[in-house]
Amino acid sequence: MALLEVRDLSVVFERKGEQPFTAVDKVSFDVEPGQTVGLVGESGCGKSVTSLAIMGLLPRRGAKVSGSVRFEGANLLDLSDKEMRDRRGRDLGMVFQDPLTSLNPVIPIGLQVTEVLERHRDMPRKKAMVEAAELLDKVGIPDPTRRLSEYPHQLSGGMRQRALIAIALACRPRLLIADEPTTALDVTIQAQILALLKELVRDMGTALVMITHDLGVVAGLCDEVNVLYAGRVVEKAQRHELFGQPRHPYTYGLLSSIPRLDAPRGEKLVPIKGSVADNIPWTQGCAFAPRCPNALDVCVNVTPAQEDIGGGRLLRCHNPVRPEVAEEVTTA
Ligand SMILES: Nc1ncnc2c1ncn2[C@@H]1O[C@H](COP(=O)(O)OP(=O)(O)OP(=O)(O)O)[C@@H](O)[C@H]1O
Ligand SMILES: [Mg+2]
Repeated sequence: MALLEVRDLSVVFERKGEQPFTAVDKVSFDVEPGQTVGLVGESGCGKSVTSLAIMGLLPRRGAKVSGSVRFEGANLLDLSDKEMRDRRGRDLGMVFQDPLTSLNPVIPIGLQVTEVLERHRDMPRKKAMVEAAELLDKVGIPDPTRRLSEYPHQLSGGMRQRALIAIALACRPRLLIADEPTTALDVTIQAQILALLKELVRDMGTALVMITHDLGVVAGLCDEVNVLYAGRVVEKAQRHELFGQPRHPYTYGLLSSIPRLDAPRGEKLVPIKGSVADNIPWTQGCAFAPRCPNALDVCVNVTPAQEDIGGGRLLRCHNPVRPEVAEEVTTA
C-alpha cells in the first residue's frame, strides 16, 4: 500500500446564486515513501485546490470534497479538524504558494522554526536555536543567526519563501506537499531549494508531491507526473516516458512551448493557442478541445474516458499525438 493514496478526489465550490464549480474532478494518484509525484498544469487547473483538499485546509462550507485521501490506510477526509491539525504537525508538511499569508506576521522567523523543532521533535530550546540557524542556512538565507530574530515583513519575498521551506523541513514530515515552492525565487536559489528537496526525499524517505507549472522543475525532480487540465488528470506517466513521448496534445503543447538548449538557433517556440477561458465543460466533451490542434468532432461531443495505454501510463484523449510525432519533442 502506498503512503498516500488519493482516489477520485473531487472539489466542488458552491456559491449562493451561482452554478457549482468543479475545480478538481476525480483526481487519483499514489505516493510512496521516497517518491516524488508531480502535479503539473497551467494556472487555474486545480493544483492548489487539490493540495488544500489533501491537507484538510479547504473551508468546510462552500467547498464539497469527495473521494478519499488515504494516509497509511486512514481516510484523512474522515478526520476531525483537531485530528487533522495533529497530523499536519507530525506527518504532513506543506509549503504554500503564498508565503506572506502562511507565515505568522507577529512572531520572529526564528521562533517559528524553533517552535516546530521543540514541539514536534522534542528539542530543547538551545539546540533548536542552533538547528533553526542551520536550516535557514540550508535554504540559502544569508546571515541566518541574525535573521532568526527578524519578523516576516523584514524579509524579502524570496527570503520568506525560503523561511517557509525551512519550517516545512523542520517538521521532517513523512509527506510533503510543495506548491510552487520556487516560482518566486531566482534560478540559483531555485536550484538550491530543489537540491534540498531531493536530499530530503533521498535521505529521509519523504514522500513528495511537487506542484508546479514549470516543466524544468518536473524534469529535475519528479518520478511520476500527473498532467492536470481543467481539474482532471489528462495524462499520467513516469517522467522519462512523459518527456520522451508526450501523448496528450496538451502535454505535447506544454513541452513544445519551453526552450530547448539543443534546438537549432532561431527555431520558434510553439505556444498553446487560446486560454482556459475557451474550455468546454468536461460533461460535454474534452475541456481542451477548443484549443487542441488534434481536435475531431468527437472531441466536442463525447467526454474522453481515461485509458490505460500500458507501461503505467494513463491517457484521456480521443486523438492522441502519434508516438513517432511525440518523440520529436523529446527534451529530457
Ligand atoms: N475558494 C474558492 N472558491 C471558488 N473557486 C475557487 C476557490 N479556490 C479556487 N477556486 C477556483 O478553482 C480553480 C482552481 O484553482 P487553483 O488555485 O487550484 O489553481 P492552480 O492550478 O493552483 O493555479 P495557479 O497555477 O495559478 O496557482 C480556479 O478556477 C479557481 O478560481
Ligand atoms: Mg496554485
